[in-house]
This record gives sequence, structure tokens and C-alpha cells, in this order.
Amino acid sequence: MASIEVDFAGFRCPNPFILASAPPTNTGEMIERAFDQGWGGAVIKTLTYDYTKYKNVNPRIHAIKQDGRVIGFTNFELGAQKPIDEWLEDVVRIKKNCPEHLLLASLLHTEGLVESQWKEVARRFAQAGVDGFELNFSCSHGMAEGGGGATIGSSVGLIQEVVGWIRRTVTLPIMVKLPAMVENIPQKAKAAKEAGADAISAINTLNCLNGMDVYTFTPYPRVDGKSAFSGLSGAMIRPVGLRCVAQIAQNVKIPISGIGGIANWEDTVQYILVGASTVQICSAVMQYGYRIIEDLTHGLADYMEKMEFAHISDFVGLGLPSIMPHRELSRDYRLASHVDRTQCVGCGLCVIACRDSGYQAISMGKDRIAFVDEEKCDGCGLCKGICPVEGCMELKRKESKG
Ligand SMILES: Cc1cc2nc3c(=O)[nH]c(=O)nc-3n(C[C@H](O)[C@H](O)[C@H](O)COP(=O)(O)O)c2cc1C
Ligand code: SF4
Ligand code: SF4
Repeated sequence: MASIEVDFAGFRCPNPFILASAPPTNTGEMIERAFDQGWGGAVIKTLTYDYTKYKNVNPRIHAIKQDGRVIGFTNFELGAQKPIDEWLEDVVRIKKNCPEHLLLASLLHTEGLVESQWKEVARRFAQAGVDGFELNFSCSHGMAEGGGGATIGSSVGLIQEVVGWIRRTVTLPIMVKLPAMVENIPQKAKAAKEAGADAISAINTLNCLNGMDVYTFTPYPRVDGKSAFSGLSGAMIRPVGLRCVAQIAQNVKIPISGIGGIANWEDTVQYILVGASTVQICSAVMQYGYRIIEDLTHGLADYMEKMEFAHISDFVGLGLPSIMPHRELSRDYRLASHVDRTQCVGCGLCVIACRDSGYQAISMGKDRIAFVDEEKCDGCGLCKGICPVEGCMELKRKESKG
């Protein structure tokens, strides 16, 4: 029988699914409700030392859509909008009612880097009973502009300084949340570990500009006619999150919580295969609610049964040996595209793609079925990727190396 319980930085979690620090962890009542529905843990919305100085704007969350479907979000939300004292009461109550669920406090939205404020908040939350801390060195927009968030995560010196403050203040586990858009992310993870961090989480949102209204020349989302750089999240950033987690796992021996575009058990397994032992989720919960936990836990357990994994630790990092420097990838064979004549609907998309971005290897037959000239085909994979009929185009080995 597979067990989805997991040990993470010294805490036994009922499952690896943790609510990321974000709107789904905005209040104590919400976190308790999520725990009741089965979430393994939660990172409280990043705490604000003095929330009255950081009022949120309206609107601040924007859904990115394609063909009417939400494919991601951008936001420029700031830290928690309630006093530290109220959060401390929430922590006491949550830990009393849900002791077996992991509860981490996320530090800290503050004005500049004030050592006494970081230490004070860490000490008070430790006393209230949190299980550990996540240090938000990764917010890519508002906090970063003020010298916090990703500004800390981009500097080895600042990472070590701030982790050191918290390490000397509390004995509880410390996780450092790193941003994706930094040079040499393993170096940043190493710096955090050397300064006393017990775990790394990655990634946060990617800094972006949502878009421009081409008639009024104003960016959106529009806050009284103006906008700001924001943070991109959701399925679109999953490949970046996977890259970051894999690079950290390849280079630093430390527990990792994988974040970025996770919406189902398969996304979760992908993160585990590249080195994560827990995962955190925000955007999918913003879109579908806490109830996705049921599919996540059942899907993961079913996968483990099928693969005969008894514990999550049995497959953490199993995909890493297959990731290698590009120069070491095989050049020993060539592929050519093949069309399944019974499936082709004659749309011609592959003909255009190969003609204008490939090797002019595809033509449309009189019977409106695409035909690939194997000699001309360079096996790039573009046509298979854009063909609207799943399974219609396959890449097969050429006889000669070409
Ligand atoms: C509206 C919104 C607010 C967020 N606020 C925080 C925050 O306060 N602290 C933090 O560390 N991350 C924050 N995040 C980032 C998420 O925790 C997470 O790292 C990111 O959204 C990527 O995960 P996802 O693709 O599952 O959304 C926020 C994300 C969104 C969309
Ligand atoms: S694999 Fe590339 S070169 Fe070959 S047919 Fe498709 S698009 Fe053209
Ligand atoms: S894209 Fe696919 S379906 Fe369309 S013509 Fe090419 S092979 Fe046929």
C-alpha cells in the first residue's frame, strides 16, 4: 500500500501538497478550511510588518486567457493586509485544531531590511507555534521594488545576512523561497544552506508586463489608467519551475519544495522526479478551489501503486540522471516525420510550418493528405508539435544517419 505521507525538513506531513503563500492562505479561517479538506500544509500569506503602509490596489489580479480558457495569472498583490497580532491568534488556533498539518509563516514584507523587525516577527511566530518559516526572497514585483523579495534572492550576501538573522533567532526549520530569474540559482541555494537554511522552495512568480491597450497606450491591469510590472504564475511557468528545481537538486543536497504551475498529480510527479519532496500550489487553487486536493492525493496514490513506489522518497530525483549538458546529447541518429494517412484531416498547417520555419519537406497530396519527403526532413519536430490531430504525426528513425 503506497503512503503519500512525507517527511519535510523534520516535519511529518499527511501529504506533500502545501498551499503556497498567496491568496489561498489569506486568513486563518481559510487555512483551517483547506486543512479540513485534506491539504498537507500551508504557508501563510507573506506577513507585513506594518500593513497600513502597503495598501493593495484595485484590481491586482489578472487572468490570462487563450480561446476563453485561463492559462495563467499576473498579479501585483502585496503582503498580508492584517496586523501581525491577529495572525498570531490565528496560528495558535490553527495549530490547536489541526496539529498534524504543516504551518509555515512567510517573512517578511517590510520597509527596507530592518534586522530587528525580521527577528521580532520570527520570535513571536515561533512562540505562537508555527512549524517553521519560509523566507520570501522571491516576490518579483512590489516587494522587490522596495528592496525585499527577489532583491534579497538575487544577492548571495543578502541571502546569507537575512537567513543568519533568523537562524540566530529561532531553532525551527527555515525554508528559503528563491526566485527563478536570478543568475546561477544553485549558488543562491548553496548560500542559503551555508547560512543555516533547512530547505529551499522555488519558484515565485516571474516578473512581467501583462500587456498594453493598443488604442489608449496604457498597460493593464489598469489602476486609474496606470499599471506596474507584475508577477506571472500558473501553467505557463511550470517549465521554468521544473528547470530551477532540477538545477538546485543537481547541485545542493537539501529538501526542496517545488512551485510553479502545478495543477494535478502528474505535474506533482514531474516536480518530484526532478528533486522536490513537497510541492506548493497557488494558481490552480485560485481557479478551482481547495477541492482539487482530492484529485491530487488520489492521483498521486494511484500513480505510486501503479509504479510500485511505497514512499515518496522512493522516486525523489529519479529523473535527474537523464538531464545532461546539451553538448552531451546524442547525435548518433536522425529522425523523419511520418503522417498517419488514416488520421490526417488535410488542414495544411504542417505544410505551412515546414515551408516557412522548417525544411520545405511537406507537401499536400491531391487526396488532401500531407506527404513528407523523408530526404528533406531534418527531424526538428515542429510539424508534430503543431498538428491539431493528436498521434497523426510521428517522428521515426531514418535508415541512414543523413
Ligand atoms: C495573487 C498572488 C499573490 C501572491 N502572493 C504571494 C506572497 O504573498 N508571498 C509569496 O511568497 N508568494 C506569493 N505568490 C506566489 C505564489 O506563492 C507562487 O509562488 C506562484 O504563484 C507560483 O505558483 P503557481 O503557479 O501555483 O501559482 C502570489 C501569487 C499570486 C498569484
Ligand atoms: S520534422 Fe521539421 S523538417 Fe521534418 S517535416 Fe516536420 S517540420 Fe519539416
Ligand atoms: S497538420 Fe496534421 S492533420 Fe493537418 S495536414 Fe498536417 S498531418 Fe494532416
